[in-house]
Amino acid sequence: MTSPIALGIDIGGSGIKLALVNTETGALATSRRRIDTPRPATPNAVSGALRKLASQEPGIRASAPVGIGFPGVIRGGKAQTAANLGKAWIGTDVRTLGDVAAGRAATVVNDADAAGLAEVRFGAGRGQQGLVAIITLGTGIGSALVYAGHLLPNSELGHIEIRGKDAEKRAAASVRVRKGLSWKAWSRRVEEYLLTLDRLVSPDLVIIGGGISRNADKFLPRIHVRPRVVPASLGNDAGIIGAALWARDAADVEGDE
Ligand code: BGC
Repeated sequence: MTSPIALGIDIGGSGIKLALVNTETGALATSRRRIDTPRPATPNAVSGALRKLASQEPGIRASAPVGIGFPGVIRGGKAQTAANLGKAWIGTDVRTLGDVAAGRAATVVNDADAAGLAEVRFGAGRGQQGLVAIITLGTGIGSALVYAGHLLPNSELGHIEIRGKDAEKRAAASVRVRKGLSWKAWSRRVEEYLLTLDRLVSPDLVIIGGGISRNADKFLPRIHVRPRVVPASLGNDAGIIGAALWARDAADVEGDE
């Protein structure tokens, strides 16, 4: 029997995180390790930070597939956009970061897609029928659309236009801090964002992810939109777990061929 363990790596705008994950249960098999994302977050700098982080985790080299969640559009393992990390990433083969961390190529997925997959399999979206939209509010806004368990990758709904502006520039969690907005003022922005999202894709359930999901009581009660809106239940680990699931699924497909 193949081992259910995979390595999940989450490259974010503020932190890089990793852990070994049991992909059958969704539980972390080692405790999460984190390092600040270097600034500027060039491919070289991120690669160096990841190398340092990975060297602290014994057992990485022996473990099976490696999955990376990356904050941009991913096609064939390469970054096509990287709004919050910088243009230098565009065209970069993110799979090679797996070599840096664990000595083998990684499978790469958009970070919000990874979080969405994890929430639908093991978190707040488990057993949900219809269309689930997972919206991560962090440095930027990420989105994942999952219908009947199937992910529609690279949906990028954080970049829809609201009041003539990129939505993530108005309603990401980082905007609340940067502009010193009250929870009330920021909630209004998130509500407007979710109203627009509903007009576009009519989700049956919206799951709010990102570190901010820990403070759901401060803003979710103020938000009134048609679809049900709930906080993510895997919190900040969702990206790591989803990246590992993605890698495990890809390895299973290869094994079937
Ligand atoms: C990127 C998305 C990413 C999101 C959250 C956005 O700026 O375009 O790909 O999922 O930030 O990190």
